[in-house]
Amino acid sequence: TPVHRQDRNIVLRQSDEKLGSLGPHAKLNAFCYARALFLLTAPLMRYSLNSIRPRALDAQLAIVGLYDDRMLSSALAEFDELSGGQIKQLIETNDVSGKLGNTQILFNLPGMQTKRVLIVGLGEQRKFDAVKFQRVLRDSLRAARTTPALSAVTYLIELEVPGKDLAWKLSQAALVSDYASYRYSATVKAKPEQSLAELAFTASASVQPVLEQALALAHGVKQARELGNLPPNICTPKYLAEQAQMWAKQHENCGTEVLEQAEMEALGMGALLAVARGSANTPRLIVMRYQGAGDAQPYVFVGKGITFDTGGINIKPSAGMEEMKFDMCGAGAVFGLMETVARVRPALNVIGVVPAVENMPDGASYRPSDVVKTMAGHYVEILNTDAEGRLVLCDAITYALRFKPTALVDIATLTGACVTALGNVATGLLSKHDDLAQELIDAGEHMLDRAWRLPLWDEYQSQLDTGFADFANLGGKYAGAITAACFLSRFTEGQRWAHLDIAGTAWDSGRKGTATGRPVALLAHWLLSKKSG
Ligand code: BES
Ligand code: MN
Ligand code: ZN
Repeated sequence: TPVHRQDRNIVLRQSDEKLGSLGPHAKLNAFCYARALFLLTAPLMRYSLNSIRPRALDAQLAIVGLYDDRMLSSALAEFDELSGGQIKQLIETNDVSGKLGNTQILFNLPGMQTKRVLIVGLGEQRKFDAVKFQRVLRDSLRAARTTPALSAVTYLIELEVPGKDLAWKLSQAALVSDYASYRYSATVKAKPEQSLAELAFTASASVQPVLEQALALAHGVKQARELGNLPPNICTPKYLAEQAQMWAKQHENCGTEVLEQAEMEALGMGALLAVARGSANTPRLIVMRYQGAGDAQPYVFVGKGITFDTGGINIKPSAGMEEMKFDMCGAGAVFGLMETVARVRPALNVIGVVPAVENMPDGASYRPSDVVKTMAGHYVEILNTDAEGRLVLCDAITYALRFKPTALVDIATLTGACVTALGNVATGLLSKHDDLAQELIDAGEHMLDRAWRLPLWDEYQSQLDTGFADFANLGGKYAGAITAACFLSRFTEGQRWAHLDIAGTAWDSGRKGTATGRPVALLAHWLLSKKSG
């Protein structure tokens, strides 16, 4: 096992263990930290079902759709009739348009109690589909939030979507609405903002269970986004471990175990610990368990939790480095999934494993050409300290195998190469198990949280060859997303396993870019469709 500097936290450096005892700056940090812990438990918007027709409606805001070809959706036709044809007239004069994504608000229309009618453009009726349904819901929510209305009724779930039933539409509507109403607030001075807090979907109470499950999923997505968005001086390995402990306390049949450095040393996790060595924020291996099916074999999810990725000694360029706070979004997805699972309480056993580590350059850092020994016993030559994700994942995966998973899925912001290949639309999916791969692809398709498969053929494996160890942590210039998965595959032999590379999909890039919560919806839909066993 590698040697660790045991005394590194004692002098000169502020470590996470010492917050609050190192002067005013540390205290400030500790304050943000406490606030962030607290904010993560904030509730969602309130959602309800209400089958009330426009004639009887007395709402602050009603949301209805209009097709581009001047075709009124049925709810809009009802409002038009109440208004004595005013809406049609505005359409005739081109004051109101049905262009896709266009939103307009009409005030104080005659013949109705409802104060505002928000008309959202649906584009051409014959081209309307699931993705456009998602889009118009998002656009309508954004527009609704710019009005003073505190509550709204949306008729959009009555729209025809080819191949989709009411349950699908309702669950998408709840997810998308919640997605669009999320605002990051953990470290922003609170503005007294009065905005939409209640949303009703026009459907009968019989679909209430569908709404409940969608809201459990919305909670999970929100949790993944919150964790992803938090700055890395707050969202440290220790913070993630505390979040996991809090999660276990809040839910029934849930437990969390946290392994610290000494325990990981005893297990021989030389790869994970090598990555951790340059940081004053000591690593954690977080294990979250939900038990809903006695001693049945569990589904296990491993999420990359690099709380900040500088690249280490192979340091990254300055431009865009700040986005590497999102390098724990795989972990965020596991936290989000476990949140959903704990709320839905399926008859399944589910385990989340998160290696939480910070990758920093330092005098104690691991270096290119180092050879480390993994928990599985393989020697790995480090050819690039920026290929750290696979190093923390391999030891976490080896650890996860002790649970004898029914299936093992890892989720990681693993490679820039995956972003090059698939952009920010599809998550990369790599697996040798065709049936598992197809199930995950189908779940992603259903939830519009889509994944696309890349090959994991043996011909790529030789790119990891080296003369100085069993293999290297780098596969060279080409097929980087695949060779990263090849590396992981050496630790999953004989296990039903799939790898999701979310480097392109876990967050929106840019100054105001936020975590997306992907692929929590994909994973939750796949998992919750399982029967125990
Ligand atoms: N966290 C990064 C991958 C990444 C890069 C995600 C950009 C999202 C956007 C990962 O740790 C990394 O640095 N990967 C390297 C691997 C390379 C050194 C083999 C990469 O993709 O450049
Ligand atoms: Mn890296
Ligand atoms: Zn990384």
